[in-house]
Parts: sequence; C-alpha cells; structure tokens
Amino acid sequence: MLTIKGLKKSFTSPEGGSSLIVDVPEFTLATGEQQALRGESGSGKTTFLHLIAGILAADEGTIDLAGTALTGLAEPARDRIRADKIGYIFQTFNLLQGYTVLENVVLGMSFGPRGSDRAKARSLLERVGLGHRLDHYPRQLSTGQQQRVAVARALANGPALVLADEPTGNLDRKHGREALALIRDVCRESGAALLLVSHDEEVLAQFELKSDFAELNRAALRPAAPQS
Ligand SMILES: Nc1ncnc2c1ncn2[C@@H]1O[C@H](COP(=O)(O)OP(=O)(O)OP(=O)(O)O)[C@@H](O)[C@H]1O
Ligand SMILES: [Mg+2]
Repeated sequence: MLTIKGLKKSFTSPEGGSSLIVDVPEFTLATGEQQALRGESGSGKTTFLHLIAGILAADEGTIDLAGTALTGLAEPARDRIRADKIGYIFQTFNLLQGYTVLENVVLGMSFGPRGSDRAKARSLLERVGLGHRLDHYPRQLSTGQQQRVAVARALANGPALVLADEPTGNLDRKHGREALALIRDVCRESGAALLLVSHDEEVLAQFELKSDFAELNRAALRPAAPQS
C-alpha cells in the first residue's frame, strides 16, 4: 500500500548551505501491516513521515500510496489524498486551539471521505479516556490529554494508513499502553496500515515488524556535514 523509492529531502540551513536529511533508497509497507521505526532524535523521522503524508514535497524519488503517485503532485492534490487516506498523529498534536475537543475530532472528519460523525467522534474520545472533556478547549487539557485527542482525531476518518509520530511520547505508562492498544486495534479492525516512529523501547517491543530508521535512511548514518 506504500512503496517508496529513492526518496530524498534536503533543507537549507540559516547560513544558506543545504543538508540532506532524508535519503531512503527503498521502503515498503503492506496493506494492514503494522511497522515501527526506531530512531534517534534529529535522525529525520518526522521529516520522513511528513513526506509520506505529502505535507512536505520530496526533492527526488517516488512515493506510491495505495496506487497513487504522491511525488509530482501539487500541494492541493497532496492535501486531498492526505484527507482521504491518512490519519496522522502529529508529534506536536496540531490541535485547533479555538475549537473544543469534540469539535477538533469532528472537524478533522469533515475533510475526510466519510464526513462528520459526532457519535463516532465521541466514542473514540471515550476510548482514549476523554469522555468527560468533550467540551474543553485544548489549552484546558494536560499535554497527555491533548496527545490523546490527537490520537482520536487521526483514527476518526477510517484512514487506510495511520502515521504515528511518537504517539505516546507525552503519556504515562498506563495511558501510553492504552493509546497504543487503541491505535493498533482500530487499525486491525479497519485493515489500515500503521507506521509508527518512536524511541520508546517499551512501545517498540510490541511490534513484530520494526527497524532502525538509521538503516533505512542513509542521511541519518552520516554526521551532519559542517556548513561552510
Ligand atoms: N523545515 C526545516 N528546515 C530546516 N531544517 C529542518 C527542518 N525540519 C527539520 N529540519 C532538520 O532536519 C533534521 C531532522 O528533523 P526531524 O524533525 O525529522 O527529526 P526527528 O527524527 O523527528 O527528531 P525527534 O526524535 O527529535 O522528533 C534536524 O536536524 C532538523 O533540524
Ligand atoms: Mg520528530
């Protein structure tokens, strides 16, 4: 369902130089597969997920998502595909501050293929333990509670692919386990593929299929070149 070949992304540094952050010759994820990537901070994991989600455009290479070639598409087309096919649990949550917990999830659904479904939004929020916080605003929640809203929002659309960027990074052990179980159960129930990145060994231990991101990403193996 996801096939990546020769993917490259560089960023320009403030000094004007360019550094290669993602250089992934090959990566595949099958339909319904659940895979975890372990990687050090700064190794390019978030950048890699942003490329797969079409939030960032690649410099080189191809990303094929469920039969659609993402690379080469303009931003609006990539946005459309993301809304239709991807549930993204952002490392920084990206909740809409002016909307309540319930509205955040319902609004997320309104961009997707199935449209808004308040009952489903509510039920997912109950499953992440936030049934009593539906009318709160993100700033009225703890960081871990905000992360759980982000989990519910990403799963609400019935995505074909869930991208999870440290989805339990702000949760205690109990809530982390519950959130991870929910993500994996929802993906299993719907047949969605899951790609999760983490440096939490307890999270990684639960995945049969896992790899070191530095082995996939040749750019992560090299120390950053000094900028001249
Ligand atoms: N928009 C950007 N412009 C310039 N450099 C960037 C940009 N985004 C990321 N980088 C650089 O790319 C590298 C990888 O960043 P990324 O966020 O992908 O790492 P990560 O593996 O997700 O790290 P963490 O585990 O801390 O979340 C970092 O050195 C970062 O400074
Ligand atoms: Mg990151």
